[in-house]
Parts: sequence; structure tokens; C-alpha cells
Amino acid sequence: MAAYYPWIKAFHLVFVVTWFAALFYLPRLFVYHAMTEDGAGNARFKTMERKLYRGIMTPSAILAIGLGVALLAIQPVWLSQGWMHAKLTLVAALIGYHLWCGQLLRAFATDTNRRSHMWYRLFNEAPVVALIAIMILAVVKPF
Ligand code: HEM
Repeated sequence: MAAYYPWIKAFHLVFVVTWFAALFYLPRLFVYHAMTEDGAGNARFKTMERKLYRGIMTPSAILAIGLGVALLAIQPVWLSQGWMHAKLTLVAALIGYHLWCGQLLRAFATDTNRRSHMWYRLFNEAPVVALIAIMILAVVKPF
């Protein structure tokens, strides 16, 4: 199994990238959706959001996390290091953010969103902070 470690890491990173592409883009769609007033635009955003969430965001999260867990199973020594504890805490927060996006998506889908485009612009910044922090923890391993 250890011989596959670099391959598993490569695909861990592939799915981290696709997960983040969706974590950045879905709240961006919410920004424009919250500014939309016409029926055709509303319907188009609903379709785009649903396909992005179900087709890319959730499968990418499952694969990124699953492959991360596989890396830990091969190399359990990482679990005794502080940077990994901090990384896993941030990943837990990211999963919470992902599920929150799912709730917001359902609000748009049922035409019950009451939040402003400004609120979504701020909401959109959170994964940027998580990405920078997790990258530094995983690559620099500062503690
Ligand atoms: C439950 C989720 C996750 C687990 C269990 C996990 C676990 C791991 C493990 C064990 C490694 C190998 C460390 C090494 O060989 O140096 C790794 C590498 C890496 N992970 Fe994750 N990871 C998870 C989620 C993430 C996320 C969300 C990101 C990005 C935001 C990320 C970014 C990275 C990076 C950049 C590396 C490569 C580090 C290097 O080779 O220098 N991981 N991950």
C-alpha cells in the first residue's frame, strides 16, 4: 500500500483543487442569484447551483477527504503532529461551510432566500482564509 502513497497524494490534491473550485464558485453564484429579479435568471441560477453542488462539490469533498484518510491510514505518524490536528480542525470547519452552502442552496431553490448579495460577498471570503491556512499547515508543517 505504501508504494501507492504518492499516487494517493496526487489525487488527494486533484480533488482538493476541484472541491475548492466549487467552494469559491457556488457562493459567487449566490451573490449574482441574490441580485436577480427575473424568472428566467432565477431558474437558470437554480440549475447551475444544483449541478455544481451535487455534481462537483460534494463528490470532490468525499474523494478529497477519503483519500486524505487513506494517506493517514498508510502513514499514521502524521496524526501525532500538531499541524495535522490544526489541519483537521480547519477541514471540519470547511465541511460545516460546505453543508451550510447546501442549506443556502435549498433556500434559493424554494425561493425563500432573504440574504443580500453583500452578505454572500462576505460569506464568499471564508474559504479563501481556510485555503491559505490549510496550505501553510500541510506544506510548511510549522509545528
Ligand atoms: C479529512 C481531510 C483531510 C485529510 C485526512 C488529509 C490528510 C493528508 C495527509 C495524511 C497528507 C500527506 C502529508 C504528507 O505526506 O506530507 C496530506 C497532504 C496534503 N494535503 Fe490533505 N488532508 C485532508 C484535507 C485536505 C484539504 C482540505 C486540503 C487543502 C485545503 C489539503 C491539502 C493538502 C496538501 C497541500 C498536501 C500536500 C503536502 C505536501 O506533500 O507537502 N488536505 N493530506
